[in-house]
Amino acid sequence: MNSTDLLLNRQSNPFLCDPAPANDDLHKILSAGMRVPDHGGLLPWHFTIVEGEGLQKLSEIFVNAVKLKTDDQAKIEKTTKMPFRAPMIIVVSTKYVEHKVPKQEQLVSAGCSVHAMQMMAYSLGFGAMWRTGDLSYNNSVKYALNIDLNDDIVGYLYVGSEKKQLPTKPVKPYDNHVTYLK
Ligand SMILES: Cc1cc2nc3c(=O)[nH]c(=O)nc-3n(C[C@H](O)[C@H](O)[C@H](O)COP(=O)(O)O)c2cc1C
Repeated sequence: MNSTDLLLNRQSNPFLCDPAPANDDLHKILSAGMRVPDHGGLLPWHFTIVEGEGLQKLSEIFVNAVKLKTDDQAKIEKTTKMPFRAPMIIVVSTKYVEHKVPKQEQLVSAGCSVHAMQMMAYSLGFGAMWRTGDLSYNNSVKYALNIDLNDDIVGYLYVGSEKKQLPTKPVKPYDNHVTYLK
């Protein structure tokens, strides 16, 4: 796939299965995540790779966090299953640096990392989906994942092989999103 096709056709796929990217492919995905615009060269992000037994650990982390807020069994049941929607999850969190570059820009850079890793996964023939939800904004989860409470979980990037290929989504016209100053 050439880079133009990649940029024009990226889309998410929530239907993911084994195998997850291994070795060289994971190396490429993580390297793409590092090669994003980064004001000040602060590298203000961290990637936590969750796979294998890590998925069960993440499930327990999620369930413990939810149980602190509710005893709704349906929600707990749903939460238990969440990490198993893919064979690999890359948790992208910020690692804010005290610097004249504002946190907001550092957050954007970390977001670019998620996008870049999804793009690389896609270009390697894998599927991926960027998810957040309540458990991105939960201090118990951050604590359990060794993420500083002052940092942010930017997303859970679910990655795997595509269980089913989705039809290509229609093009989104940009007309109403562009103005020109000439
Ligand atoms: C910051 C962020 C968080 C997201 N969180 C979720 C989520 O929790 N659940 C979900 O279904 N989609 C979420 N999405 C949207 C999907 O990743 C995806 O972009 C969307 O379904 C549109 O599909 P597409 O990427 O194929 O255009 C999120 C996207 C972003 C940028």
